Amino acid sequence: MANLATPTLDTACIRADFPILSHVRPDGKSLIYLDNAATTQRPRQVIDALVDVYASRYANVHRGIHWLSDQTTDLYEEAREKVRHFINAPALEEIIFTHGTTESINLVARSWGDANLKSGDEILLTEMEHHSNIVPWQQLAARTGALIRWLPITDDGLLDLTALGQFLSKRTKVVAVAAVSNVLGTINPVAAIAGHAHDLGAVVLVDAAQSAPHLPLDVQTLGADFVAFSGHKMMGPTGVGVLWGRRELLEAMPPFLGGGSMIRRVQTVGFEPAELPAKFEAGTPPIVSAIGLGAAIDYLNRIGLEAIVAHEQMLTRRAHKVLWDVGGVRILGPSPQHKSGIVSFVVAGIHAHDIAQLLDRHGIAVRAGHHCAMPLHQRLGLTATSRASFYFYNTPSEIDALGDALRDAKRVFRRG
Ligand SMILES: Cc1ncc(COP(=O)(O)O)c(C=O)c1O
Repeated sequence: MANLATPTLDTACIRADFPILSHVRPDGKSLIYLDNAATTQRPRQVIDALVDVYASRYANVHRGIHWLSDQTTDLYEEAREKVRHFINAPALEEIIFTHGTTESINLVARSWGDANLKSGDEILLTEMEHHSNIVPWQQLAARTGALIRWLPITDDGLLDLTALGQFLSKRTKVVAVAAVSNVLGTINPVAAIAGHAHDLGAVVLVDAAQSAPHLPLDVQTLGADFVAFSGHKMMGPTGVGVLWGRRELLEAMPPFLGGGSMIRRVQTVGFEPAELPAKFEAGTPPIVSAIGLGAAIDYLNRIGLEAIVAHEQMLTRRAHKVLWDVGGVRILGPSPQHKSGIVSFVVAGIHAHDIAQLLDRHGIAVRAGHHCAMPLHQRLGLTATSRASFYFYNTPSEIDALGDALRDAKRVFRRG
C-alpha cells in the first residue's frame, strides 16, 4: 500500500497500486487514462477484496443459516456501515444498495414521486443535468401531469442562482440537482439550493455521481433529502450504487421493486414490506460489488479526500493552462476554482470524435459526444464535446501529454 499519510499525493506510489495504469497497449503506447468521469480504475486492494470474497467467503446474504452465508452477510453489512460513515449518514437503515446512480434516482422518482406528485405540481431540474437525472423525472411528469422546469445556467457554466426565485415556488415538489456537472465540472452550491427549496416545502435529491468520488460528502450538512451515487466512479465495481434518504421519507415510501428479501410476509391476498433497508433491496443484491465498494472507500479514506481535492484542483488548473496554450480550444464551464477535475472542450474546426480518435493514437483515453447531457449541449449550441476527466492517480505530465497530442491533432487536420 502506498504511503498515504502525507497531504500531497505521492502519485508514483499510488499508481503502483493500479495494475491497469502500467498497462502497455498492443501498439506499444502506455495508457493515459483521462476518462474518469465515465468510470474510474481499481487498485489492487479492491481487486483483491473481490477475489477474496469469491474465493473463500461467497454465499447469498440474509438467507442462509449456515456459516458461509453468515460470513458474507457480515461483509455485506460492514460495507453498508463503511458507506454510512463515508457520507456521515445518521443511520445505517438509510443506506440502500442499488445498482447505481441511475437506479437510485429511478427508485425515488417511482416510489416517492408516484406517491407525492399530482397534476400541476412542479419538478425543478437544471440545464446541466445528466440524462439519469432527467428522464426518470420526465417519466414521472408523464405519469402524474406534473410540470418540469429548468433552472438556467450562465454563459460561463454556473447555475444562475439569481433565477432561483422565479423557478422555485410552493408548486415545486422536488428539486433534483447534480452536485458536480459531468460535462462542465461545475461544483454546484447544493446546500444553498436545498435551503431555499426546503423553505418552500420541496424535497431535494442530489445526484452525487461526480462528487462522491472526489469531494467530501456529509449528508447532514448538505441538507438534501436524497443522495445518489455509483460505486464504479469511485474505484468500486460496476453494478453497485447507493441511495441515501432521510429515514422518515424512506419509511413512508412504498417499495420500488417487488420480490424476495423486500418482504416481511407474503400471502395469497397480498404482502407486507420489510423494514428499511431491505424494503428497497428486492432480490439478490449486488453482494460482492457492495463489498468491493467498501474496499474502495477504505482506500479513499487512507488517501484522504482533502488531498484528493487539492491534487485534482492542481490538475484542473494545469489543464486549463495547457489547453489555452494549444490555441483554438474553447474550454467549457467555469474557471478552475469552481470546478472538479472535469475539463470539456471543443477544438475549432475539428469534430469532438476526431479529437478523441487522434488522442487515442497517443494512448490518451478521453470521451467525446454529448456525455448523456443533450439538453446542456443544446444550451451550449453544440452537438458534441471532448472531455478529459481526472482522478487522484493522474499526473501533471499526463496533462502536458494531452496538450502535445492536441497540437499534433491540429497539425494532422491542417495537413488533411
Ligand atoms: C452526473 C451523473 N449522474 C448520473 C450518472 C449515471 O451513473 P450510472 O451510469 O453509474 O448510473 C452519471 C454517469 O456518468 C453522471 O455523470
